[in-house]
Amino acid sequence: MWKPLISPSIIAGDLANLRQDAIRAEEGGADWLHLDIMDGNFVPNITFGPATVAALRPAVRFTLDTHLMLVHPLSMIERFAEAGSDLITVHVESTDPVDECLELIRSCGARTGLCINPDTPIEAVEPWADQVDLVLLMSVHPGFTGQSFVEGSVERLRALRALLDRVSSNPPDLQIDGGIGLHNCREIVEAGATVLVAGASVFRQPDVAKAIHDLRETGAGNLPR
Ligand code: DX5
Ligand code: ZN
Repeated sequence: MWKPLISPSIIAGDLANLRQDAIRAEEGGADWLHLDIMDGNFVPNITFGPATVAALRPAVRFTLDTHLMLVHPLSMIERFAEAGSDLITVHVESTDPVDECLELIRSCGARTGLCINPDTPIEAVEPWADQVDLVLLMSVHPGFTGQSFVEGSVERLRALRALLDRVSSNPPDLQIDGGIGLHNCREIVEAGATVLVAGASVFRQPDVAKAIHDLRETGAGNLPR
C-alpha cells in the first residue's frame, strides 16, 4: 500500500530544545523534518535562520525540508544550502524572481520547492511545474502553528494535482502545510498530496512516534496519481 511522506514541522516543538525534537522526529520514523523560516515581513512572525539549521544538521540524517517565508529569499538560499538544507522551498509570492531562486537552489545542489499561499490561484505554479521537485500548497495563512485548515484547500489540492499531472511528464511531489491531522489526512492524500507537513499534530502530542505512525497509516491508500 502506498503511504504519504511525513514531514513534522519543528516550529511546533520545544524551541529551546530543537536538537532533541529533531532527533525525536527522526527516531520516531519521520521521513523529513520541516523547518519554517520566517522573516517577520513576508509573514508576521520570526523563527530561526541558517545558523540554527547548521547546528541541527549533524544531529540527524534525514531530509531537512526548508520552507522559506521570506520577502527576499534569493540572498539567503546559498546560506541555507551551505547549512545543510536538502530541499529549499520558496514562495511564488516572494519578491525575487522564481526562475533565479530555483536556479540558485539547483546550483547549490539542493532539491527545489515552490509554494503558494491560500489566496494565490494554483495556476501561478504552472510555469515551473515541470522543473521543480516539489510543489507546496499552504492550507493555512503562513506564520503560526496550530491554525485551522482553510476551507476549500482540499478542492485546491485536487485541482493542483490535476494541473501537475497535466503539465509535467514527471510530476513533482505535492506537499501540503497547515492544519493537517488525523481528522483530515486521508481526504488530503486522496486529493493528491504525497507529503504531509504536520506541526501541532506531531510535536504537541504525547507520543511523537505514534503521532507520525498514525498519520502515515491513516493517510495510506492508493497512489494519489
Ligand atoms: C505555517 C507553517 C507550517 C505550520 C505547520 O506558517 O508553514 O509549517 O506551522 O503547523 P501546523 O501543522 O500546526 O498547522
Ligand atoms: Zn511550513
